[in-house]
Amino acid sequence: MQEPFSVALLGCGTVGAGVAQLLMQQVDRLGNRAGRALQLKHVLVRDPNKVRDVSIPHNIVTTDLNLILRDSSVDVVVELVGGTTWARDAVIQSLKAGKHVVTANKALLAQHGTEIFRQAHESNRIVAFEASVAGGIPIISALTQGLAANEIQSIQGILNGTSNYILTAMTEHGHDYQTALKEAQQLGFAESDPTLDVDGSDAAHKLAILARLAFRVDAASDQMFLSGIQELTPLDIRLAAELGYVFKLIAEARRINQRLSLQVSPTLVRRGTPLADIGGANNAVQIRGDAVGDVFLSGAGAGMMPTASAVVSDIIDLAVGRAQHTFDSMRMWDTDSTLSIA
Ligand SMILES: NC(=O)c1ccc[n+]([C@@H]2O[C@H](COP(=O)([O-])OP(=O)(O)OC[C@H]3O[C@@H](n4cnc5c(N)ncnc54)[C@H](OP(=O)(O)O)[C@@H]3O)[C@@H](O)[C@H]2O)c1
Repeated sequence: MQEPFSVALLGCGTVGAGVAQLLMQQVDRLGNRAGRALQLKHVLVRDPNKVRDVSIPHNIVTTDLNLILRDSSVDVVVELVGGTTWARDAVIQSLKAGKHVVTANKALLAQHGTEIFRQAHESNRIVAFEASVAGGIPIISALTQGLAANEIQSIQGILNGTSNYILTAMTEHGHDYQTALKEAQQLGFAESDPTLDVDGSDAAHKLAILARLAFRVDAASDQMFLSGIQELTPLDIRLAAELGYVFKLIAEARRINQRLSLQVSPTLVRRGTPLADIGGANNAVQIRGDAVGDVFLSGAGAGMMPTASAVVSDIIDLAVGRAQHTFDSMRMWDTDSTLSIA
């Protein structure tokens, strides 16, 4: 049996607790899949005395990032803190210290992707990010592995569960935007400040990651057409329904000759098509490849265990040695596309 593969978690909130739970409770299953034991070596948090959803042995909880960076036995640092300041520094330092990085942080990769992927390349380490787009849906591995033979022509997705929950409530129950938002907040599908979810920014971050992967462009949100769902009224929803359509917040990247169109906006989707049927807080992605045609993936786009599923799949890929090959072939640090963003 090989040496254990050692994991340091940064953050033990919603997603971190799910990852810790999987690593501690599914030891045999994950060990078999990875071909070696996955060992949770450190868990870094802000408040070590907080009561958590998962019980972490006290001796592995820390508030000191340097302790993790100095521990030469740590193979991978899993960034589940969120934000773009502390997390950026922690990811760059981890790569410089010779650790691989797994992250679910779409804002971080959308804003600092080029710097982070270049640092990984320079340090001969990898950054894996399956959980950063569409939570539990394996869209990154679909694009990098299963669809590798294709030139991607378009990607269309429902990439934000909060806005999809609100639009579903407006469509099915006739609620106005404010009532649907309040309901989403009461049920835990929306933050107290939902701005990034409802104005399209969160979906734009995810679209930027997919565009880098599929089209090799560095697409900041300000290069996209961005429009949120806040202005939609019950009348808009009703008129759409009368014409046989529903409104969905669609993130779309589309290749048109030498141009790449990128946009996030409320879009009329014909009833009876796969995207129209995605209700509640679920996510879905439809990819068109030149060889395969249309491929459709759907499922939970967020939440503790669905997101942990994607994070742990990255850790297994790293432990097996697969992720290193995939990362080399993805060349995420090169955004050398000749496509112009329109
Ligand atoms: N939640 C989801 O369903 C979901 C889905 C997909 C992707 N993501 C992404 O996953 C990441 C984590 O999200 P989350 O919902 O799990 O966040 P969360 O519940 O707010 O947890 C954040 C964790 O980070 C710790 N933390 C925050 N600032 C810190 C600092 N300066 N130093 C040390 N620790 C710090 C917190 O420590 P304390 O607990 O001690 O306060 C907490 O454990 C984000 O990038 C998010 O966008 C989340």
